[in-house]
Amino acid sequence: MENIVIKTEVPGPKSREIAQKREKYVASTLDSLAPFYIAKGEGAVIEDVDGNKFLDFTGGWGCLVVGYSPKTVVDAVKEQVENYIHTDFTATPYEPYAELAKMIVEKTPGNFEKQVIFLNSGAEAVENAVKIARGATRRKGVIVFDKAFHGRTLLTMTMTHRAMPYKYNFGTASDVYRLPSPNPHRNKYTPHDFERLLLDTAYPEDVAAVVIEPVQGEGGFNVPPQEFIEEIRRVTEKYGILFVADEVQSGYGRTGKFFAIENWGVAPDLITLGKSIAAGFPLSAVVGNKKYFDALPKGSIGSTFGGNPVACAAGIEVIKMIDEQKLLDRAIQLGKIIRKRFDEMQKKYPVIKEIRGIGAMCAIEFIKDREKWEPDPDTCGKVIQESLKNGLLLAGAGLHKNIIRLLVPLVITEEQLNEGLDVLDRAIETVTKA
Ligand SMILES: Cc1ncc(COP(=O)(O)O)c(C=O)c1O
Repeated sequence: MENIVIKTEVPGPKSREIAQKREKYVASTLDSLAPFYIAKGEGAVIEDVDGNKFLDFTGGWGCLVVGYSPKTVVDAVKEQVENYIHTDFTATPYEPYAELAKMIVEKTPGNFEKQVIFLNSGAEAVENAVKIARGATRRKGVIVFDKAFHGRTLLTMTMTHRAMPYKYNFGTASDVYRLPSPNPHRNKYTPHDFERLLLDTAYPEDVAAVVIEPVQGEGGFNVPPQEFIEEIRRVTEKYGILFVADEVQSGYGRTGKFFAIENWGVAPDLITLGKSIAAGFPLSAVVGNKKYFDALPKGSIGSTFGGNPVACAAGIEVIKMIDEQKLLDRAIQLGKIIRKRFDEMQKKYPVIKEIRGIGAMCAIEFIKDREKWEPDPDTCGKVIQESLKNGLLLAGAGLHKNIIRLLVPLVITEEQLNEGLDVLDRAIETVTKA
């Protein structure tokens, strides 16, 4: 497949026709980045229904670490579909569930016995991690951090930081406490303030879990200092609180480690997974210390479609691909290219204040001027639109919508990556000169 090729105006005639159906029948609250409709995807390239080709650096909001429709996944899924599509593991169990659980456990840090439960969405994984923590500790409190994103169900929406649009008149769940995380530009808070802030905010004997994204996704790829994660581990152990790493976005390879939390050398009690783990099939998971699963009554957690056999068959192939194609090394290699290009852009464009992330999980932050930390969502939004016009899909991020984060499939070629980064570079130039 070629990379960017724009043959018609965008959206083209076929996309516009589909858009009419959408406008009439699809919930108007849904908002799409692309104005066109996809016909096919391969690796990091999308072809739309009018034959235009785009590079996709959003990977379906981070769900395509292994790219669009890799052959081994497609073959495994076809075979699985022909055998059986669904049973519900709690009605009639099947091997792909157990096999994928085994493969994930073998990758999970921590010198203790681990187990896995599969669910459907990232939010459902986070909800269940909280339920496991509450059930096992018989406590209610959940500690989360500023700029966090944990999902959009009632509990996870409460755990998510950003109010608009996520919390619009939707009410809240109880027993969720938000703490700041260290940010050298915005607060003087040091990692060692964590225990004091926790004690100021909640009665620790009532706290079930501290939930943290090792690298924040929607929050803009913020990377906490080593001592902060170590401090969370120390304090959670001290007070019998579970350390839950939400790896729905950072998990499986993007940072050059299988789990992002491995970059800190810390083993959480539970890890939540989602997005990329089944190449785009709706599958999520909680993996963690067996003793916490053992603390719950049988049947107390679960989900009809959680761990669907087709999704598990895809999930098995994803891990095989990561291993066989050495995608962790690839994430580091891609990250080096991205960093170098971002550094060059930062030198050219004063509007880029900061570059951050680990491995291929890299982001740039737009700020109105380099002395002040005033976010520049306007420039950021225009750069995303200008890039789109020129064939590149980019994901925005940040509490203030002033960050561009790269969620490229790790199977992207260097040529495609550089082509996309050229588009981004030119887009920043065009927007900042205008
Ligand atoms: C870190 C994190 N947790 C949870 C979620 C929620 O996942 P889902 O949208 O699949 O419910 C997301 C989604 O972006 C996420 O990035």
